[in-house]
Amino acid sequence: MYNYQKSNRYFAQAAEDIKDLVESELVGLGATDVSHAYKGLYFNGDKEVLYKVNLYTRLINRILAPLISFDCHSENYLYKTAYEIEWEKLLNNDDTFAIYASVSQSNITHSKFASLKLKDAIVDRFRDKTGKRPDVDTRNPKVWFNLHIEKNHAVISIDTSGGSLHRRGYRKGSVEAPMIETLAASIIALTEWDMKKPLYDPLCGSGTLLCEAYLAAANIPPSFMRERFGFENLPDFDKKLWKKIKSDSEKNIRKIEPDLISGSDISIESVRAAENNLAVIDNYKLVNVKQKNIFDIKELKDKVIVCNPPYGIRLKPNHDLSKFYKELGDFLKQKCTNSTAFIYFGDRKYLKNIGLRPKWKRPLQNGGLDGRLAKFELY
Ligand SMILES: C[S@@+](CC[C@H](N)C(=O)[O-])C[C@H]1O[C@@H](n2cnc3c(N)ncnc32)[C@H](O)[C@@H]1O
Repeated sequence: MYNYQKSNRYFAQAAEDIKDLVESELVGLGATDVSHAYKGLYFNGDKEVLYKVNLYTRLINRILAPLISFDCHSENYLYKTAYEIEWEKLLNNDDTFAIYASVSQSNITHSKFASLKLKDAIVDRFRDKTGKRPDVDTRNPKVWFNLHIEKNHAVISIDTSGGSLHRRGYRKGSVEAPMIETLAASIIALTEWDMKKPLYDPLCGSGTLLCEAYLAAANIPPSFMRERFGFENLPDFDKKLWKKIKSDSEKNIRKIEPDLISGSDISIESVRAAENNLAVIDNYKLVNVKQKNIFDIKELKDKVIVCNPPYGIRLKPNHDLSKFYKELGDFLKQKCTNSTAFIYFGDRKYLKNIGLRPKWKRPLQNGGLDGRLAKFELY
């Protein structure tokens, strides 16, 4: 019996600064005994909860099912212990697999070396038992394994998601510095949008915020397009239960009102990218995206405004955007009566240039950048 079968306990990998949101999401999906850990949360759940969390989560990157855990002081011991696992029950010799590893405060100091040892154990066992071996494919493997060694204690897990869940399948067009889907989904969650007031992104780029708002409003599970989840490789996979969960989710999809979600961007390439991405999920073409300079917009009254203005760190390192942020603040003050604005600052130094006092602000990392989301109530 594997560890996850004995305990029904899983690990949800997620960004550090959204763990409070992830906890609510997990509990809402039926998980119990949720506890916070570094870069993720542990939770308990049966198969139904595991499949549902994978399908419905907007915030989690991957869900790991621990197979085995053991004290591990050397590479040889790692190899020997891993060799004993019945890998042939988890993948076939013509499948592909990949391993991602992390190590901290342990005798084994290099994660690459640790994953190489684990790979050797898997491959050697297959060769010895079957005469054939599965291949490694680090880009798009059939099965992902995770190896985590902390303070000389190793946990080997199978990735029940089958690759990071931020890959929803809608990103066809991109622009420079698009926002990662899980961050966009966190921002939409933090707006506490009632899905009745129109939502508008006037700096929409490739439309990630619009796409995540659409998925939420239409009640579409973010991973509805994923062809295969990692849990389908588990030896106790319940195909009938999974089919029911999937078909129930399709019944709950709803049509949104036209003009509920819209956006614009000054760049035609961005508008095209947003349109291409939205076309994948918005079959009825209900989300409208236009080419427009934000400062030419006549007014944005009675809206939920959500956006992520240019921040210059990655794009143009020394480009000063103080004036842009001052004008953005003036636009919010003068033209956005009775709206609420949620602005994501990739570079928090520009918060002061807006010239408006935020109702609240909170740190949210974007690919290693220490950004801030701020809420402004406009009268
Ligand atoms: C950081 S990007 C937004 C990325 C977007 N959230 C995404 O996921 O792709 C900022 C966007 O602001 C747009 N922009 C810059 N100045 C603008 C202006 N004056 N009016 C409208 N859009 C503008 C840029 O073209 C760019 O697409």
